[in-house]
Amino acid sequence: MGRTVVAANWKMHKTAGEARTYVEKLLELVPSRLEFELIVFPSATALYVVAQVLRGSPIAWGAQNAHWETQGAYTGEISVNQVADLGAAYVLCGHSERRHLFGEDDATVAAKVRSVLAGGLVPVLCVGETLEQRRGGDAWDVVTAQLSAALKDIGPDAADRLVVAYEPVWAIGTGVAAQPEDAQSMAHDIRSWLTELFGSEGAEIPVQYGGSVKPNNADAFLQLPDVDGALVGGASLDPKEFWTIACSAVPR
Ligand code: 13P
Repeated sequence: MGRTVVAANWKMHKTAGEARTYVEKLLELVPSRLEFELIVFPSATALYVVAQVLRGSPIAWGAQNAHWETQGAYTGEISVNQVADLGAAYVLCGHSERRHLFGEDDATVAAKVRSVLAGGLVPVLCVGETLEQRRGGDAWDVVTAQLSAALKDIGPDAADRLVVAYEPVWAIGTGVAAQPEDAQSMAHDIRSWLTELFGSEGAEIPVQYGGSVKPNNADAFLQLPDVDGALVGGASLDPKEFWTIACSAVPR
């Protein structure tokens, strides 16, 4: 069995104080040993306090974004080194909100993936098509173009330090999740593509589904053969709700 990764992307929610309360509550729910990886992605302003609470626990934390340079005159940006210094182990790269609202193109996403790997952290590479692209029959072409641009310069030795999240843009924050069979088919094709690129190591890269995952549909996604976890937005803002979703990842 490959790795399973369940992650909470809080987006631009929660003050440092709210983040502390959340992770303290989550810790009360989570057993001392987990059968899957559990990650929270707070805002950068809450990383320090989240690290204070979670250090030594089975829950990991990561940054929602990081710049591709290690330091320099980049007002308002944070570096991989800076988030690594706070114990973050993962960085989201290429989230659709970064691509569509902040104009991140494939070259930027690729530079970020490289810098996250160079900093010793794990990029969670997000890919996914818009509704228009899906309706036009272009979903797979869009996803492979995003994968290819982000991973073409990455050697196979990095394959065991990658996570891919398939997040169809039309399912994010809409309450309209993908059909599980569509998520399964896309995850399966992504895995085949990764295997072609990286060899057998590629088959082991966790492929998450994200987009309106809720407690009432988590089982339908997390028990799919090629879906190795979930990247959860809205429903991850409450620790109990997030933990209920995560429990669907326990192998049956
Ligand atoms: P929602 O779960 O709110 O649809 O968000 C998904 C997402 O974008 C996670 O990164």
